[in-house]
Amino acid sequence: MEETNLLNKELDESVQGTATMVESIQDGSKKLYLESYGCQMNFSDSEIVASILCKSGYSTTRNALDADVILMNTCSIRENAEQRVRNKLRQYQKQKKQNPSLVIGILGCMAERLKKQLLEEEKLVDLVAGPDSYRDLPNLIDEVEGGQKAVNVLLSREETYADIAPVRLGKNGVTAFISIMRGCDNMCSFCVVPFTRGRERSRDPESIVQEAQELFDQGYREVTLLGQNVNSYRWNITKKNELIDPSKPTVSFAQLLEKVALVSPLLRVRYSTSHPKDMTDDVLHTMAEYPNICKYVHLPVQSGNSNVLARMNRGYTREWYLERIAAIRRIMPEASISTDIITGFCDETEDEHQDTVSLMEACNFDYAYMFSYSEREKTLAERKFEDNVPAEVKQRRLNEVQALQHEMAFRNNAKTLGNLYEVLVEGISKRSDDEVYGRNSQNLTVIFPKNNFKPGDYAMVRITEYTSATVKGVVEN
Ligand code: 5AD
Ligand code: SF4
Repeated sequence: MEETNLLNKELDESVQGTATMVESIQDGSKKLYLESYGCQMNFSDSEIVASILCKSGYSTTRNALDADVILMNTCSIRENAEQRVRNKLRQYQKQKKQNPSLVIGILGCMAERLKKQLLEEEKLVDLVAGPDSYRDLPNLIDEVEGGQKAVNVLLSREETYADIAPVRLGKNGVTAFISIMRGCDNMCSFCVVPFTRGRERSRDPESIVQEAQELFDQGYREVTLLGQNVNSYRWNITKKNELIDPSKPTVSFAQLLEKVALVSPLLRVRYSTSHPKDMTDDVLHTMAEYPNICKYVHLPVQSGNSNVLARMNRGYTREWYLERIAAIRRIMPEASISTDIITGFCDETEDEHQDTVSLMEACNFDYAYMFSYSEREKTLAERKFEDNVPAEVKQRRLNEVQALQHEMAFRNNAKTLGNLYEVLVEGISKRSDDEVYGRNSQNLTVIFPKNNFKPGDYAMVRITEYTSATVKGVVEN
């Protein structure tokens, strides 16, 4: 995607593999336990899975021990993400020994990548369903209950699940994801996503706007439009700029953003993730024009060195990236910017690494998701290059960029002191029942006294304290 990244601290934990368990939704005869790992897209897909299975008579449970069916929606982006899922599956296999009718299935990227391996060689699951086969889940579960093993890992060029109303599993009732496209055609050399999620396809804009409207009507106040590379969203036009249906208009990502922003000035709009090579000024101008489009851009750079970027097949140079950052600052001076960084990619020299450090300083990122390179089977990098930066060097470089980012976030948060922000309340603070938390347009988490605020309210908050992760403030009328 840009493997869709997580936009706040709480969700950030989930990229590290913290699972979510779904709420109990309705009383069906059979109980489903769904656990999600990885990116926002997986969390959004789990809401589609819940919708499909609730229609087939399942209800969800938060307790795996209660379940008739356990489904794990998984991530393959790095090796350690997969290992964590295997450990969890082993644990569920023990539960199956006590309860042999339990169905254990794997969904998402690991299902697509490993196909029958988890079923036949590792014997960890009964069912394997790739990201484009969720409509088939009721049949697949039936097959397992009939005594067979079930697999569907067909990737589609069309499936967008546009007609399926997701069952909202997030708990706050204020913020929701809307998936606007699937797949990725970019082929960054380190990335497994094009293999696990297939070709890029955009979803019908009308169904997206309708979903946003319905969410707003239900009381939601923020939607995040999701795609692996949202800037290449296009409707009714091919990649070669050929019109598909001449009787209908085409829709670009900037136009889609505007349509969603027009649902209501009270509905905040975010999106994730952008690709620097496709991030155009028209999107930035649309963002600047609508106060309810949040002034936050997640623009993964991966490396600050043009040769490394070429090996990564990213399609842009250091200079191009710096120019895009300058465009954001020019068009939206108040915007915050975050990024993704990989340390220790194949053949990365110390000087090349230092270019990443200097780029981070030049961009003054508000937040960064930082990883050390993990070689993935089948990717271009695995076939073309050697994974030759020693683990300890990758780690040392990672520590270095993390320390720098921590320092920059602290400095940036210090600058918010005394500023007044509109904050959308999301819930009660984890640390104190007397405080609520929410985010400002720049995606900064703000904590302040609860007063009479409830989730979904907007509050004007003046910042009085800060750390590198959050800021605190007091409400002003
Ligand atoms: N190794 C390490 N990090 C990776 N990412 C994607 N693939 C890999 C990999 N093989 C990171 C990129 C991407 C983010 C979601 O995960 O930074 O933007
Ligand atoms: Fe993101 Fe590149 Fe992977 Fe596509 S191939 S998901 S753009 S990192």
